[in-house]
Amino acid sequence: MDEVEHAITALDLDTKAALVAGQDMWTLPAVPEIGLDSLVMSDGPIGVRGVQWTAQDPSIALPSPTALAATWDVGLARRVGALLAQECRRKGVHVLLAPTVNLHRSPLGGRHFECYSEDPLLTGEIAAEYVNGVQSGGVGVTVKHFVANDFETERLTANVLVGERALRELYLRPFEIVQAKAGPYGVMAAYNRVNGPTMTEHGPLQNGVLRGEWGFDGCIVSDWTAARDTVRAALGGLDVAMPGPVTVYGPALAEAVRAGEVPESVLDEQVRRVLTLAVRTGALKNGSPPAVYEEIDGVGLARELAARSFTLVRNQDGVLPLAREVRIALIGGLAKEARVMGGGSALVFPERVVSPLEGLRAAGLDVVYARGADPSEQLSPAGKGFTIASTARDAEGRVLGVIPQSDGSLTWIGSMPVPHEELRSVEIGGTFRPEVGGAHRFGIEGTGLFRLVVGEEVLFDGRVESGSEVFTVELAAGEDVPVSLTHTVVKGVLGEMPILYVGFGLLYREPTPGPDELLAQAEAVAREADVVVVVVGTSKEVESEGFDRTSLRMPGRQDELVSRVAAANPRTVVVVNAGSPVEMPWRDQVAAILLTWFPGQEGGHALADVLTGEVEPGGRLPTTWPATMADCPVIDVTPVDGEIAYDEGVFIGYRAWDRASTPPAYPFGHGLGYTTWEYQELTYTEGTLTVRLRNTGSRPGREVVQAYLSPATPDPERPTRWLAGFTTAEAAPGAETTVTIEIPHRTAEIWTPEGWQLILGDYHLSGGPLETLVTF
Ligand code: BGC
Repeated sequence: MDEVEHAITALDLDTKAALVAGQDMWTLPAVPEIGLDSLVMSDGPIGVRGVQWTAQDPSIALPSPTALAATWDVGLARRVGALLAQECRRKGVHVLLAPTVNLHRSPLGGRHFECYSEDPLLTGEIAAEYVNGVQSGGVGVTVKHFVANDFETERLTANVLVGERALRELYLRPFEIVQAKAGPYGVMAAYNRVNGPTMTEHGPLQNGVLRGEWGFDGCIVSDWTAARDTVRAALGGLDVAMPGPVTVYGPALAEAVRAGEVPESVLDEQVRRVLTLAVRTGALKNGSPPAVYEEIDGVGLARELAARSFTLVRNQDGVLPLAREVRIALIGGLAKEARVMGGGSALVFPERVVSPLEGLRAAGLDVVYARGADPSEQLSPAGKGFTIASTARDAEGRVLGVIPQSDGSLTWIGSMPVPHEELRSVEIGGTFRPEVGGAHRFGIEGTGLFRLVVGEEVLFDGRVESGSEVFTVELAAGEDVPVSLTHTVVKGVLGEMPILYVGFGLLYREPTPGPDELLAQAEAVAREADVVVVVVGTSKEVESEGFDRTSLRMPGRQDELVSRVAAANPRTVVVVNAGSPVEMPWRDQVAAILLTWFPGQEGGHALADVLTGEVEPGGRLPTTWPATMADCPVIDVTPVDGEIAYDEGVFIGYRAWDRASTPPAYPFGHGLGYTTWEYQELTYTEGTLTVRLRNTGSRPGREVVQAYLSPATPDPERPTRWLAGFTTAEAAPGAETTVTIEIPHRTAEIWTPEGWQLILGDYHLSGGPLETLVTF
């Protein structure tokens, strides 16, 4: 690119070194002399937050990545990418920090919900089309986290000891597929170390494999604060160190070049990649007219994707779909306060969240609600009934800004919506109109100085050491009461890091009877209804970025709730609202189980669509669901002395379950629709598998056709079978359809010290229940 070469020669050393260092939480510096705008990056992957972490500028919140993978539909992934590009353009974002293509090595992995699958092919194919979608909209990506970032414990420092074969065949494979099929503009270097070097300094993997072998020509951006050493990172292949303003690049890199520790040609190469990224994403003006894109309906896509991702793993006697006239007992704390996305950097602020209760009511269904049990003892951020905003003030109490709040939680990170130097306090305040009279609970979440006032009463004025404080207030129904929670901002930075930060929350819970009474009420409601829909799942305390899970049990008394309502009414449909697998000890006692993942902002509408049969649940498990945690092949996510050994080699997920003595609760690839299919014929010629199948049910349907390859002579060094390809098929009732799946040679190759090697011989190639013998 001429404009890039031209720009590089125009820049001096200090400017070049500044250009590869974050200037703040989300951006690189602008260089107006060469027509370069500040390049803006933002998380990712289920929506685009934008540079402000507030509800000021809401984002479409899509279902979790596990949900997208559950569709096994690369076309849908592409549409998701295109929508996210639209969101990025709307918010002035050039690079989306997504997708996350680490693997489900263990269901305990804290960011499991944010990754796609336990299978590298499914992960890579979904991610590649997601990237194609984003980049078709003129926006870049950083495929992350390169590589082996599959757990959270000691995530900043842990050294992953992984064999070359597992690294190539499993953990690197999704990145390799995305590189081959989508040519990503960016990759994010992970926090962790791999076999010694930390990933931001990993020359053999960054310069060797990613650039050298695969031909990646994009930009490598560090995970936030992951770059540790100027010279080692620059020589190891890291282009950009994020976030700013203090990084190991910038002045330190200029210094290292002057000292002869980093050749200037290395810096020029880094700058070349940043400028190339800027050209690709429109941040470096090159005179071409702006592209015109078709408008995508984000709310509609969020609803469609949610329904398509819902995975029906059990449906006894066709209890689903429900007839519209049935009386439904809708039960569960999560049915009212839906958990629609996972926590951490994946969090965005949607304009609205449709809970199951709202969704079912909006569909005109006859619903009686009972809380039954909650996934958490913690109060939730103040939401329904509250009309609140946050007001930022200076030391004299002058208002610096009023910022809308979609709920009671506030996290400003990286950049502040008001001048940071003047900020002294933030008040979340407004009014609350109780729906019912009784003992309402209010809480403070955060650390530091707080003052909480409800009505006339000062409930707290002092220091909260850590965690939360809870207070009870008697309020009458229907009458507005003023509420105010003021936080005094002392430092306004995140821990010891030079990152601007203010975070706290106003929490609330409506008057609620004790847990025993709640359970008894749920049973009573269940008994009276034609059908029970009970929504259970995880909480942010047990499933979020930043820590691994320690148990697969659902928190609180939710398991007991399911067992008791199922005993009261055999027509019980359980909706599991969790981003990753949970134990379901009651699974054989209930009529149906629908996994809805973290379903995104339109989850409640999508649930109504699927329960009523308006839409067929389209999901198939992207990861194995165990019966109990103890059965899982890999539960070790805790480094010992800073090291974690991936001793299981290539045997993760179904590759391991296939040779275990205990079967899982529901296997990889499992999921039911509302129709039935008969696989009629399967043929294989020259790398193409052709499958003919017929919809034998009475409704139109969609099937995910999965092809597996399995060595005819078992080899203990290799899995029994592995996913060779997949596609979706659609047909009207009674109609036939034919699909094809490409089976590349790589499918039968393994990684050896000499590189990829095709293992010649006979294999069984299956598509659904049919199979054929193929010879490589
Ligand atoms: C996460 C990344 C994220 C970054 C910026 C990190 O802690 O690991 O996935 O993109 O923060 O929010």
